Amino acid sequence: MINFKELAATYKTPLYIYDLDYMTNQYKKLKEAFRGRKSIIAYAIKANSNLSVVNHFASLGSGADCVSIGEVRRALLAGVANYKIIFSGVGKSDAEIREAIQKDILYINLESEAELGRVELIAKELDVVCRISIRVNPNIDPQTHPYISTGLHDNKFGVDINTAKRMYIRANNSQYLEPVGIHFHIGSQLTELKPIYESAEIVADMVRSLMGIKIELKFFDIGGGLGITYKDEVTIEPYDYAQAILSTLKGLDLTIICEPGRFLTANGGYFLTKVLYEKQNGEKRFVVVDGGMNDLLRPSLYNAYHKIEAITDSKTNESEADVVGPVCESGDFFAKNYMLPKLEHNDLLLIHSAGAYGFGMGSNYNTRGRSAEVAIKDGKAKLIRRREEFEDLIALEKEFLVK
Ligand SMILES: Cc1ncc(COP(=O)(O)O)c(C=O)c1O
Repeated sequence: MINFKELAATYKTPLYIYDLDYMTNQYKKLKEAFRGRKSIIAYAIKANSNLSVVNHFASLGSGADCVSIGEVRRALLAGVANYKIIFSGVGKSDAEIREAIQKDILYINLESEAELGRVELIAKELDVVCRISIRVNPNIDPQTHPYISTGLHDNKFGVDINTAKRMYIRANNSQYLEPVGIHFHIGSQLTELKPIYESAEIVADMVRSLMGIKIELKFFDIGGGLGITYKDEVTIEPYDYAQAILSTLKGLDLTIICEPGRFLTANGGYFLTKVLYEKQNGEKRFVVVDGGMNDLLRPSLYNAYHKIEAITDSKTNESEADVVGPVCESGDFFAKNYMLPKLEHNDLLLIHSAGAYGFGMGSNYNTRGRSAEVAIKDGKAKLIRRREEFEDLIALEKEFLVK
């Protein structure tokens, strides 16, 4: 049991807390589901990119799915092997492509024909062969929130099947490109297996048709997207997930690359915030806390649900309240009409499922320093990022002050 009161007293609030032991279990469950096949779990480090978290997964053997050169550098610094790093994303700059090639990562995931041209040109300049994979957009509705849906032609991600085929032929004929993989990622927080299976089938057929023209791929990259329970969602079991994917790959000798983010970290993370006070605007009850949308954006951005637990001695009956932060936006809330007892100054609210897309989406809006982060490993707490102070926030401006 994590003693949240003690953590608040030691590290102050607002505070992110990550249970690394939970994350280990999630990693092992997924790895185990693919047993009997060669597989790499390439942790999508955008979900939670704290160096200690990435290092923890690296120590379990994880690779990394990265979407900027900053993430590639982070992964390497945290001890992820270069041959387990993938670089994805719709918009990579020339400098990012060059550095990724020089770092000799596993492959670059291409998301357009134009990008293939840039990568080929840069590989030629460097006089090396660059391993590539192509992100196929299977045009399947993943049945998730529109902001985290990526597998429809309406979304900016990947290329359609016909374009992909043309790109593979072009890459295969290039002296500077080596097509080694195929990739799809239809969305995040997926709770339906059918769209995943259908996408895998389309992409596996593509692999077979490429074999017909002597283009032999090695990696079948199924992206991430496995959903988790925030409230009462029924999620996909890793075993069923793996079986659905593997059933589409009969007769193909491919290494599975899986890029989970949320599944590995979300429910191992908590955001701890302190009650400043309660207020009443007419009939409406507000609980004002010391954390804000700049710390945890998901409720404001997606209207996302996060379970909230009151850590209080209050024994009063629960009533509906909006839990809001100090940021000057009406969208700065963690929950609306949430049942909570009467709360006092310094009571704590524990916001669950905050280990993915929490801290990483944070900002300094309203000149608020981002929270500290603490990891729990083998039951022991350790600071893994100190709280940002005012001096940190102005450091890049101070010397340029126009007087
Ligand atoms: C290409 C790719 N892989 C993996 C992920 C991780 O998704 P999730 O956290 O839902 O597993 C994302 C998320 O946006 C992604 O775009």
